[in-house]
Amino acid sequence: MTESSAVPPEASGGTPRNASGPAPAGRPLSRKNLLRAAVAAGAVPLLAGGGVALARDSRSGGTPPALTPACDDGDDPTPEQMEGPYFKPGSPLRTSLVTSGTPGTPLTVSGYAFGRACRPLRGVLLDFWQADASGAYDMSGFAFRGHQFTDADGAFTLTTVVAGLYPGRTRHIHVKAQAPGGPVLTTQLYFPGEPRNATDALYDPALLMNVRSAGPGRQGTFDFVLDVAQQPSPDPTDPPTEPGGTWAAGTSYRAGDRVVHAGISYRCLQAHSAITGWEPPLVPALWERV
Ligand SMILES: [Fe+2]
Repeated sequence: MTESSAVPPEASGGTPRNASGPAPAGRPLSRKNLLRAAVAAGAVPLLAGGGVALARDSRSGGTPPALTPACDDGDDPTPEQMEGPYFKPGSPLRTSLVTSGTPGTPLTVSGYAFGRACRPLRGVLLDFWQADASGAYDMSGFAFRGHQFTDADGAFTLTTVVAGLYPGRTRHIHVKAQAPGGPVLTTQLYFPGEPRNATDALYDPALLMNVRSAGPGRQGTFDFVLDVAQQPSPDPTDPPTEPGGTWAAGTSYRAGDRVVHAGISYRCLQAHSAITGWEPPLVPALWERV
């Protein structure tokens, strides 16, 4: 199905929240929080020159577009956008929407889903749909439609082709994102450097992917921030804490005392005053696993 109307329904059905607002150019990006999120995701980025080398920081050439709303200090969730007329429920479970013979410019989109405290969310449903390389949506089948779930690190990867252009819209990919038990976020992802970004009423620079060329194709990144309440994650610059345990540095223990450290129970063998570095797993002379 190729759209031929000058103003497609998804561009004329109202003004989505944040769809035409100004670029969040003044939004401060907290490197501390980015690092926190990356550490929490198990994907500690390279540190070079004091910077955090996340993909979104490494745009090459030209004026950097507005940053995506990725765990900044405001914890703003990813903006919503209208669903448009081409969503179909029941898409296949798959991370790749293409085969080796699929026409178009190969594209991978990867990133993380975070909650409001910048902690990664596992098991987030991501349902993507898009036009094919010629700008057509498949309304009779499920071509270029697929859903997947973020992994244990909150990460996802979509393999597809660069979405084609159709009248009235700039290049985009639709997606619904939902954390387990959370609200559904319906939005669209955009490509940087597209001439039509300047004229598309729905385009929102906060929804720009970071896209770079990679061989014959392109690699895009985008992190979702879902409106899911979370406890703040530990700051990697804070002193280590003991997750799920009762052991605590500074405590005086007597022989026979029992503690839990990192989910494992120990019995004190010798009275001592606990200090950081003498955690039970590290000092079998002081603690016996029980
Ligand atoms: Fe669309």
